[in-house]
Amino acid sequence: MEKGIFISFEGPDGAGKSSVMAAIAAWLRAELGDARVIETREPGGNRIAEQIRAVLFDDRNTNMDARTEALLFAAARRQHVVEDLQPALAAGKVILSDRYVDSSVAYQGAGRQLGIDRVWELNQYATAGCLPQLTVYLDLPVEEGLARIAAHRSDQVNRLDREQLAFHETVHAAYDELARRHPQRIVKVDARPPMPEVIDQVKALITARFFA
Ligand code: TYD
Repeated sequence: MEKGIFISFEGPDGAGKSSVMAAIAAWLRAELGDARVIETREPGGNRIAEQIRAVLFDDRNTNMDARTEALLFAAARRQHVVEDLQPALAAGKVILSDRYVDSSVAYQGAGRQLGIDRVWELNQYATAGCLPQLTVYLDLPVEEGLARIAAHRSDQVNRLDREQLAFHETVHAAYDELARRHPQRIVKVDARPPMPEVIDQVKALITARFFA
């Protein structure tokens, strides 16, 4: 029986996911003690998964096929589940993961047009049904997310072309669809307010769900 807590953080690029997760991790560490809280990310988490990550994000791999990409994300996830997540859950830890299955469904299933059901099924196989109890979906309008990225990386401001915008719109729509399909697990949090407010929202959500 799993006795730990597994929370994933999802959302389109620019939603502030990593910053929110870092703040939540610091808060939980202070509340529960350092040893109880594990911060991880996908693709990654261990040596094998990080090696797969390097293949996925290698700039030379511009010819990577969409199914290859989906399979590599799923393979990295499988290793993450077996090597890190399941043992941590069995040990009663609180796991915070920067992205998990919903990223594959949104980016590969919708964005790369492999089909959200198909990519969902692939990931059921990869994870053997290991799902977070809570997925914090930081929701931000696509234009705003891209604008935030542009503001932080001003050298890339002209690269946000129409095709990228359409891709991100598709990803965003898929996250909304996932939230509709899994209303118990996926909770949408408005990422537009200032960061401290967003963090407070997420703290309240986690407290109500697990520590009330
Ligand atoms: P990363 O460098 O981790 O940054 P961030 O999560 O802050 O965007 O990049 C992860 C990228 O990989 C991101 O663009 C989403 C993508 N991704 C997928 O396409 N599928 C997946 O299953 C995962 C985990 C990530």
